[in-house]
Amino acid sequence: MKAKITLLPGDGIGPEVVSEARKILAEVATRYHHQFSYQEAIVGGIAIDEMGTALPEESLGACLESDAVLLGAVGGPKWSDPTAPVRPEQGLLRLRKELNVFANLRPVKVFEALAAASPLRPDKVKDVDIMFVRELTGGIYFGTPQGREETPQGRSGHDTLRYNEHEIRRVLEVAFELARGRRGKVTSVDKANVLATMRVWREVAHEVAAEYPDIEYEDVLVDACAMYLINRPADFDVIVTGNMFGDILSDEASMITGSLGMLPSAALGVPGATGLFEPIHGSAPDIAGQGIANPLATILSTAMMLRWGLGLHEEAGAVETAVSEVLNAGNRTVDLVNPGETAVGTQEMGDLVAAALS
Ligand code: IPM
Ligand code: MG
Repeated sequence: MKAKITLLPGDGIGPEVVSEARKILAEVATRYHHQFSYQEAIVGGIAIDEMGTALPEESLGACLESDAVLLGAVGGPKWSDPTAPVRPEQGLLRLRKELNVFANLRPVKVFEALAAASPLRPDKVKDVDIMFVRELTGGIYFGTPQGREETPQGRSGHDTLRYNEHEIRRVLEVAFELARGRRGKVTSVDKANVLATMRVWREVAHEVAAEYPDIEYEDVLVDACAMYLINRPADFDVIVTGNMFGDILSDEASMITGSLGMLPSAALGVPGATGLFEPIHGSAPDIAGQGIANPLATILSTAMMLRWGLGLHEEAGAVETAVSEVLNAGNRTVDLVNPGETAVGTQEMGDLVAAALS
């Protein structure tokens, strides 16, 4: 097949890990006879430096007219002044909104070879296989009004949490459909005991659940969910939740695997729309430019891109198998290495996966 892929390396370690992902795409293209064409565009801090905006129109245009978008990471201390008028994260948020990628799939699965990296006991993490479905283009991240003002009581800030029925229903449907191809269970996470928005969320969730009688369904409050993720993570199959709860719980869940550097994500819109694929880790400015970052989350995001963005299921599986093989052979980047072992660098890890593929 032919596919047009936009690469957004972004900031920090972004460029290093995206270039390894590109290596893997090239290998996939050769091995399976696809024609992938690439265009690179800027987003985040680098775009602020070069163009004064976190998502230049040219970058957005390139993304909108491509078949899939792969992003490295955005942000860094250089741009993190809370009073700055533009911030790198705005670029990512606008991109998600413009692409209308409302469903963010964040799988949390423990690679057998890395089970020891988890801070949890082996018996707790053994069967963990969770698919987070985080609502990505609504909720408190996008609600208006938002702002800050001076008041007689001093500085004040406000955000708005709002979800409408349509936004809730479509992301719930993604979760139920996914559950059908997995272990058949959906957990909807809300805060219906306190927030009016979340009572609407729960009501709509029950309506959708009634349309999927074959799927086991439960509601869990977000605070309890935070606890269960540590206490009994293997009980979850698909977890669906709003934008901010999903942001927080998916970082928490990533630690079950012990390795934030391993976790990919896919942001999807309506079927056929351009998806956005990115590792869930950040720009890691402390190790940027040293060639030691773990590229596997981005490589696994590339696998998600092949599967969910381009419909290339066999190719996606081959990339995931290649990653497992490389880990099983004992290769580790610095974030995963055991004391006394030598770590492989970013490029070497990319080369190893590419070699395992070919
Ligand atoms: C994530 C990140 C982003 C988010 C930031 C960088 C805007 O934390 O993708 O989880 O909060 O969505
Ligand atoms: Mg986050």
